Amino acid sequence: MSRPGAAEALLAEWLPANDDPVRPLMTLGTVDSSGYPDARSVLLSEYDDEGFYFHTDSRSRKVAEVTANPRAVLTLVWPGRQLVVQGDVSPASADELDRAYAHRSRYLQLLAWLNTPELAALDQEERLARWAEFAAEHPEGTLSAPETWAGFVVKPVRLTFWHGDPDTASRRVEFALSASGEWTETILPG
Ligand SMILES: Cc1cc2nc3c(=O)[nH]c(=O)nc-3n(C[C@H](O)[C@H](O)[C@H](O)COP(=O)(O)O)c2cc1C
Repeated sequence: MSRPGAAEALLAEWLPANDDPVRPLMTLGTVDSSGYPDARSVLLSEYDDEGFYFHTDSRSRKVAEVTANPRAVLTLVWPGRQLVVQGDVSPASADELDRAYAHRSRYLQLLAWLNTPELAALDQEERLARWAEFAAEHPEGTLSAPETWAGFVVKPVRLTFWHGDPDTASRRVEFALSASGEWTETILPG
């Protein structure tokens, strides 16, 4: 069921447009195979009716975790605002993967190719040399996504918008998807 209009309005107000090159940073929380929570920062690549997209390396720990347990939480923070999205994770479509790679900055396009254990283990001089060499061999506009480029969409089951207010108590507006597929809206203390 599509997200409620009030949630859509807040998302449109709080999140930049998908074509804005400045991407919001999110904390992506997952659960590891021992049951411990895990977390790291990732960029919100885009969002749509389906959910919230992030992109990463298919060999990363987060990918193993969401593959084994396709549930995650995203936290985005701005001055006076917080958005927490809990949801189900599924792989992004091939089209979305290509689009997201094309929208990445030059640096991040190169990083998707060079973010390897081998490069990480080299000394700094060698790391700089390898990066410069790869960049020279692949001028801007010539790279497509490597095989290891992976993307996922977090489809929300709960969206919690926290509003701070210096003149009164903070409060939250929470939208939750029930087991029967209905969205409910609840006002909560901060
Ligand atoms: C500001 C910032 C932005 C980041 N953006 C991403 C991102 O979009 N995708 C990604 O895979 N890693 C990103 N990282 C690196 C991750 O935080 C993390 O170190 C890496 O993905 C490995 O995580 P994992 O071992 O838990 O899978 C970013 C780190 C920082 C500090």
